Amino acid sequence: MSSRPPASRRPKVTLRTLQRKKTQGEPITMLTAYDYPTARIVDEAGIDVILVGDSVGMVVLGYETTLPVTMEEMLHHTKAVARARPSAMVVADMPLGSFQVDDAEAVRNALRFIKEAGADAVKIEGGQERTTTVRRMVQAQVPVMGHIGLTPQSYLLIGGFVRPGKSKDEWERLLEDALALEAAGCFSIVLECVPAEWARDITQRLQIPTIGIGSGPDCDGQVLVFHDLVGLTPFPPPFAPRLLNAYELFRQTVEEFRTRVEQRNLCPAPTTGG
Ligand code: KIV
Repeated sequence: MSSRPPASRRPKVTLRTLQRKKTQGEPITMLTAYDYPTARIVDEAGIDVILVGDSVGMVVLGYETTLPVTMEEMLHHTKAVARARPSAMVVADMPLGSFQVDDAEAVRNALRFIKEAGADAVKIEGGQERTTTVRRMVQAQVPVMGHIGLTPQSYLLIGGFVRPGKSKDEWERLLEDALALEAAGCFSIVLECVPAEWARDITQRLQIPTIGIGSGPDCDGQVLVFHDLVGLTPFPPPFAPRLLNAYELFRQTVEEFRTRVEQRNLCPAPTTGG
């Protein structure tokens, strides 16, 4: 049993909370966090869902894409977030290779996030091609969030971080993906970089909540990468409002530390009293 107090004392956010918010038209809030202090900040600020995104690979670990991120890295970061004992729901992102090989391995890996790392749910990228995997995970009692539109794990196949096109075919495929994921048992779906009118239409047709990122204002909720929001990433995507320039604040603070040390002007140590 931890002696540290939980980050916040709100009632735990569950699937029912998110579903109720959709029904009542209350926006759902989701932010990424990859470590203990950030999870505490996000939770204390009253955010509904903490996503331990595989964006950790690019934002924190310095990879150029999310492709190299491993199960062990995701478990490590999810455990750190779960140690904050947040009231927010903790969703762990399943990295490339952890759910595509076969369904049995996908279920085993999903269960590791729940049992070993303390996640409340997992997220996987992909549409209709993932429905049997989603069904198997849900049968194994793992809540699954879907993710369609721009799917960063498809980087090599698509040839970059490419937004979905605007053709009739793309629209039909996206809508079928969303309906298929809902029918398979997903409790929510992330819509990344989907044209705003499509995101609105999908949101109206689904019973489960949609969470948008770069997909306009009419999804049931919105998600952002924490580091984009607070200005810790050098090139945030254009849709991400940067509400703080933390990079500059941190840099100035480190410079201040360096100056004080060089001037022998840091906090004095306690004296011996002599
Ligand atoms: O990994 C991540 O942070 C994500 C969000 C951008 C939705 O998948």
